[in-house]
Amino acid sequence: MSASTPPRSDGPAADRPTSAFTFRPMAEPAPEAAEAARKLFAGPCDFLKGVVAMDGLPPPDRREVCFAGRSNVGKSSLLNALTGRRSLARTSNTPGRTQEINFFALGRPDAGGGYLVDLPGYGYAEAPKAKVDAWQGLIRAYLAGRVSLARVFVLIDGRHGIKPADEATMTDLDRAAVTFQVVLTKADKTRPADRDRLIATVGQGLARHPAAFPELVLTSSETGEGIAALRTVVAGVLTPGRG
Ligand code: GTP
Ligand code: MG
Repeated sequence: MSASTPPRSDGPAADRPTSAFTFRPMAEPAPEAAEAARKLFAGPCDFLKGVVAMDGLPPPDRREVCFAGRSNVGKSSLLNALTGRRSLARTSNTPGRTQEINFFALGRPDAGGGYLVDLPGYGYAEAPKAKVDAWQGLIRAYLAGRVSLARVFVLIDGRHGIKPADEATMTDLDRAAVTFQVVLTKADKTRPADRDRLIATVGQGLARHPAAFPELVLTSSETGEGIAALRTVVAGVLTPGRG
């Protein structure tokens, strides 16, 4: 990347890991940052719109983060857990529930707020192929071309680890120089004894990706584990300098 084209995300080059061992679970957030995040997420969060084509995106007038991942990994559930609203985003047992790019406005842009964006799943989904192909094209265009996208959270099911569809997405993000951070989901289904191995394996996979942020967050939308920590990360990304 040349000096005249600064990274539009928050610094994949600066955060570039040098080995698998630099990937680690997130450290305990500072109390002030955790409190600022708690307040932000306790405030308003409203559904703005569902988008099915790039020209339907809202103006990029504030920072946004999105939740990407394979169908059924728990993206919409995580958004609900973060915002403490049970059914802000629709969830389902059936892969392919979310079929649009859904924008949620969190707080006010002049007070550290921004957009939270729930994406349709990539990879397998129980929906007609033509429809799934259309979502995939839209997701790729959005991830690579959205100027206000400050960080992508790539959700990986803790039981399954990184799959080929995740690899493809992470490679697209490397090429577009958009920082992504892995969130391991469904921690309540991962045996504590398996966690270190899971983190090591995922860390090894991430070492090949220059746009990967070096901290992982392990979450459960069922038990609330890791949710406050992830709120702090999101608030810090939406409000650089405060977190
Ligand atoms: P698509 O919209 O189809 O791409 O799926 P999604 O990634 O948004 O997944 P969703 O949030 O709809 O959740 C899929 C299924 O996983 C639902 O049955 C959820 O109840 C379940 N689920 C989500 N998060 C968790 C979790 O942390 N723990 C457990 N045990 N189940 C979860
Ligand atoms: Mg969903």
